[in-house]
Amino acid sequence: MVEGEVKVRAATADDKQQIEEVSEHSWEGSDYVPRVLDSWLQNKDGELSVAELDGKIVGFSRLSVLCSGYGWLEGARVHPQWRRRGVAVALAKHHIERGREMGLKQLAMATGSKNVASQGVVLRLGFELAGSYSIYRAEPRQGQPPRVEPVKELPQGSGLIAAGWTFWPWNRELLEKWQRQGKMLGYGDAGMVLHRGYRSSRVHVSMLWGPESDVAVLLDYARCQPTEEVERISHMSADDKYKQQLLDAGFELRENKAVVYSLDLTG
Ligand SMILES: CC(C)(COP(=O)(O)OP(=O)(O)OC[C@H]1O[C@@H](n2cnc3c(N)ncnc32)[C@H](O)[C@@H]1OP(=O)(O)O)[C@@H](O)C(=O)NCCC(=O)NCCS
Repeated sequence: MVEGEVKVRAATADDKQQIEEVSEHSWEGSDYVPRVLDSWLQNKDGELSVAELDGKIVGFSRLSVLCSGYGWLEGARVHPQWRRRGVAVALAKHHIERGREMGLKQLAMATGSKNVASQGVVLRLGFELAGSYSIYRAEPRQGQPPRVEPVKELPQGSGLIAAGWTFWPWNRELLEKWQRQGKMLGYGDAGMVLHRGYRSSRVHVSMLWGPESDVAVLLDYARCQPTEEVERISHMSADDKYKQQLLDAGFELRENKAVVYSLDLTG
């Protein structure tokens, strides 16, 4: 255990190279972090934190404030040589302290159901399972997309909104923003939100609502992406309400699920 010896602090622009080196060892070199690192290093809406041992960065993770009172943890990475020694726990503890200082009410994070390491870290700190989501994926299809239009009426709802791997608490301002940005598309009485992820080659169908037959048309539209730009379209679902429509539209149900954990900071 090195927990006591680990120094956790906010990252600065000077840490960029060392952060990239740690990231290189994650996800077989295809980590998204280098794509977002410059923006994360600005520490505008949160804090990218690094864990140092003897002055060398061995891990990092980020806390951001998604909306009022709600903090989001992401991008936890520890160099393989320093794993299982409490580095990720030290980073998460730092985020919990920062979250309390910032007056946040809740901290949350998401990971794959098979990522026992990531779940082990937050379970140790008292996070509880807040949701489990089926993951559907499809490749883009070529051909003429069906005609869809901007959504005029915002849907009602509650709980979490899965926007790729970021889970937002339901809030009207967010939906209005997506509507202004043209991300909300409708057909008949159905609607969906389509947006690009951290990797612009990945498109997420973030919300789906309305009658099944209309949803089927929207899913077909979602699949009609420029094949040279987009490698996959995905959707996460808590209730599998549109499972059949997703399968019929050519989406595959993954074995891995997305699991969301949250910690109440008000107690
Ligand atoms: C997930 C990750 C950040 C954990 O970092 P870490 O510093 O090794 O984690 P810790 O040492 O703080 O682990 C705390 C606890 O989590 C659990 N845990 C961590 N790694 C584990 C593993 N490989 N298998 C099973 N449990 C594990 C254990 O309960 C561990 O406590 P213990 O070692 O006393 O048994 C690291 O494995 C990593 O960088 N993985 C690749 C990237 C990744 O998956 N990031 C998370 C994406 S959401």
